[in-house]
Formats: sequence, C-alpha cells, structure tokens
Amino acid sequence: MTKVMRKEGNLELVTIYEISKVLGSSLNLQKTLREVLNLLASHLRMDRCMVALLQEDNILHVIGASGMTETEVKRGFFRIGEGVMGKVVKSGMTIVVPDISKEPNFLHKTGPRTIQEGEVISFIGVPIKVGRESIGVLGVDRHLNGEPQNFQSDSRFLSMVANLIGQTVRLHQSISKERQQLLMEKSRLQKELHGKYSLDNVIGVSKLMQEVFSEVHQAAPGKSTILLRGESGTGKEVIARSIHYMSPRKDRPFIKVNCAALSETLLESELFGHEKGSFTGATQDRKGRFEMANGGTLFLDEIGDISPSFQTKLLRVLQEREFERVGGNKPIQVDIRLITATNKNLEQAVSKGEFRADLYYRINVVSIFLPPLRERREDIPLLVSSFLEKFNVENQKNLSFSTDAMKIMLECYWPGNVRELENCVERTLTMTRGSVIREHDLPCQQDKCFSVTLRSYVQPAKPVIPIIPRHDTDMPMNDDHSEAEVPSKEFGTERDRLIWAMEQCGWVQAKAARLLKLTSRQMGYALQKHKIEIKRF
Ligand SMILES: Nc1ncnc2c1ncn2[C@@H]1O[C@H](COP(=O)(O)OP(=O)(O)OP(=O)(O)O)[C@@H](O)[C@H]1O
Ligand SMILES: [Mg+2]
Repeated sequence: MTKVMRKEGNLELVTIYEISKVLGSSLNLQKTLREVLNLLASHLRMDRCMVALLQEDNILHVIGASGMTETEVKRGFFRIGEGVMGKVVKSGMTIVVPDISKEPNFLHKTGPRTIQEGEVISFIGVPIKVGRESIGVLGVDRHLNGEPQNFQSDSRFLSMVANLIGQTVRLHQSISKERQQLLMEKSRLQKELHGKYSLDNVIGVSKLMQEVFSEVHQAAPGKSTILLRGESGTGKEVIARSIHYMSPRKDRPFIKVNCAALSETLLESELFGHEKGSFTGATQDRKGRFEMANGGTLFLDEIGDISPSFQTKLLRVLQEREFERVGGNKPIQVDIRLITATNKNLEQAVSKGEFRADLYYRINVVSIFLPPLRERREDIPLLVSSFLEKFNVENQKNLSFSTDAMKIMLECYWPGNVRELENCVERTLTMTRGSVIREHDLPCQQDKCFSVTLRSYVQPAKPVIPIIPRHDTDMPMNDDHSEAEVPSKEFGTERDRLIWAMEQCGWVQAKAARLLKLTSRQMGYALQKHKIEIKRF
C-alpha cells in the first residue's frame, strides 16, 4: 500500500512538472489547457477532464477538454450556482461527487457518460482562482471498478494543478489586456497621424484643414445656415456634402444648385418650381429644388453670382421660409438646411453695393473658409497618393510617383487647387508609359501646363513689386522684360499678376507671355479664363 502510494506520489510529481512545462510553452490558452488535460488523462487515468472559465457573460464556458467531443464541449456552459460546476465556482470550494449517477445536482449538461457494468464514475470539481476570486473550475471524471479511491489526495493534487492553471490564466489575461491597450493606443496614434478630425472622402492633415474639419464637426449637427468660402477647387462642395452626411438630415436629400450656371428666369423656376402654363414650355407642374430638398439640405453654389433682383427674391424666401411656384399663388413651406458657397469676396461686393447686405447677413451665419492648397502643402502627398490610387484602379495600372516628381508637385502654385491637382494626377497617369511617374512625365515639365509655370511666383528671384504699375502710354517700351521682377503670390491674385504683366508690356500679349514664361497659347487661355479684355491703343 505504501509502495503504491509512493509510486502514485512520484507520478503526480512528474505530472506537475510536465504540466508546468506545458503551461509556460504557448500563448494559446485553449491549446495549452487541452495539453494539460491530456497529461492528466494519460498519467493519472482521469478520463474525462475539462477546464471551464467565467467569460464576459458571467457564465462558465468549457475552454479546454480531454476525452470530450466537440459537441459536448459546446454544451459545456454553466451559470454561477448551476449544477456541480456552478456550485464550485460560486462557493470557491472543491466538490467531490463519489457517484455521479446518484447525485441530483450533477446535471449531465455536456451529455450522458457511458457507464460499464460494475463501474462507478466519480467527479471532482476544483475551483480555479486568481487571488481569492474564483474564475473557473477544473472538473475531472474518475472511473472506478471497485478499487478504493483516495478523493482527498486527488483533490489536493487537482488543487495544485488548478492553482498553476489560475496563474497561467491570469498571465494570459494580463497579456491580452496589455495587447488590447496597445491596439487602442495604436489606433489612437494612427488617428492622430491622420488628423484628429476626419471626414469621409475628404483629405486634410494640415493644421488649416484640421481647423476646417473641427468647424465642420461643430456645425454639422445643427441647423444653422453655413457659408463656405474659398478659391475654386478648394473643396467647398465636398465639405457641403460632408456637412449634410454628418447631420441628422443625412437620410434626406442633398440638393445642389449652381446659381452661376443659370439665367435668372431659369434659376427662379429651378429653385421654386413652376405651375403648368406659367411660361412657354411649362407643360406641367414641376417641383423646384427647394421642395425637393424638403427635410434635407439645399446647397446653393456660387451664391455670389446671383443678380440683385434674384437676391431680393431669395432673401424673402429665407426670411419667410415660404414661397410660391412660378405662376402659382399657393404658399409652400419647406424645412431645409441651407448651405451656400462662393469664391467671391462678398464683403467687397456688399461695400460696392453689388450684394445685398441683408442677404449677406442671412447666409453668413456660420462661415467656413477653405484655404488654398498652396497654403497647406502638407496635404499634397496624401492627395496625390489618394488620387493616384483612384486612377490606378480606374485605369488598371499600378503607377507610383518618384521623389523628384513629388517634389515638383509640392512646389507647384496650384491656382486651381485640389481640382487642378486631381486633373494633373489623372492626366499624368494616363500619359506615363513606365511604372514610375518621373519629373519629365509631368505636364508642366513638357510646357503643357499653365499653372505649374506660375511656380516662379512662389519663389521670386528679387523682392516683390508691391503695386500694379500704372499704364502710361508715353512710357518708352522696353522689349526685353526678361529681367523684370515677377511679383510673388503676396502681390495678389493670378488675375492681378496677369494684368501686371500686360501693363508692363504695354498690353502686347506675346511680350507679357514671355515675361511670365508662358507660351502665347497659355497666355491667351489665361486671359480668357480671367475675362481680361485686351486694351488696344
Ligand atoms: N480635401 C479634399 N480631399 C479630397 N478631394 C478633394 C478635397 N478637396 C477637393 N477635392 C476634390 O477636388 C475637386 C474639386 O472640389 P470641389 O468641387 O468641392 O471644389 P469647389 O471649392 O466647390 O470648387 P468650385 O469653386 O470651382 O466649385 C473634386 O473632385 C473634389 O472631390
Ligand atoms: Mg463648387
């Protein structure tokens, strides 16, 4: 008997040693527990073993098992206090069931055991603890064929194993908590890298754009009228859409009207709708954009371009929130959020009497200014790679920008802002033959781009000329203007620079083009674009 006990004691010691080795061998808790239970089964004839741990739902779930099918494992969940397993975790004490067939608390939840003739199955449930807290149960079946059983020694041994398992579980828990914290930190840092504020499909990590995003976040949820300002191509429309999709009106329509594109009569009918027969061609009643936007957002683009009489009509609608269709007399009320946009200097227009001051105040409730791209160059690489990705997908290509080409993009003046950069990337990607876009692939390097040539304005060789020189017909004309100082961006708008050059050269287009280092065609295009009339003497 003593010999047997010593033999069993040795075996237990060896098993504990093996178990401790297994427990420290992997970070996969399920796999580790399965191996530990297999050791118990093979070394100590503990035929059916399981480890159940309390999960987030506060229910014990079998995490590792030996001698059980997958279905049995799946069935293995116990509420605290439910059955023998639940009672062990609740009390934090070991429970021994000498004969499971006679124990009413033994619920056979995982499935019935096959009991051979003359065989008795006993069960030992030991709590797995972290400190004083029970976090799970180690449960073991013992098949007995009439031989005496030392439950006390089994319980003591299993408690040691449960203790080791408890320490391992705690280690795993703290590792996974730390990992989770690291992942959270990683995503926080990633967010910070991409800017604190972000809007879907709008790129901007620069400080200036982050300020814009913060204003958008602030203003979007409310109902106040918003005025978006900024040069052409700075993203006024993308921001208007973002505001709509971030507002509670996101599931209602977003309706856009370009006020500059329509004559006054058309604009009136487009906005307010018309009744059948109200004018030639009005063959049926038609809803206007105000009505279509009901419940949603109405975006009036180029608001600075509407005529004085239309300003009056619009003001009335905005004040009274009520209008009639053209040719109709039934007042219509709508619930819209108004966003307007312009690249005009409205204050100047108001002071010149071109824009009604009362309408200006009505639309200028919240004003968001979109900075020109040249003032937020940090955004250029991200914009380039985002457009590159988009056009690569569209054209089934896989092009990238070389460092030199990107340097040129970073230095460009971009008078047409993001729209121009987008076009430039598309055009370059379409025309490039190799897999890398190099400096010479860019349109500006092939003298095909007006704007990039204007790059020279950004870094003037000599000090800036502060005023536009007055044209003087008596001034002797100097044909060689190559040394003339080209004004920097501080000098004024692109239009101002063109006028300056024309003035310098006595309104001789070819000379002014040379001065600006443009081809005659580019100069012609630029003058047309800015509607600059050529003075003839
Ligand atoms: N921050 C941005 N991120 C991604 N794309 C942008 C961004 N800003 C502008 N774009 C893109 O540039 C183009 C021009 O933008 P948008 O039409 O919004 O400019 P805009 O200020 O309304 O110009 P305009 O005054 O000429 O109407 C669009 O294709 C738009 O998707
Ligand atoms: Mg626009």
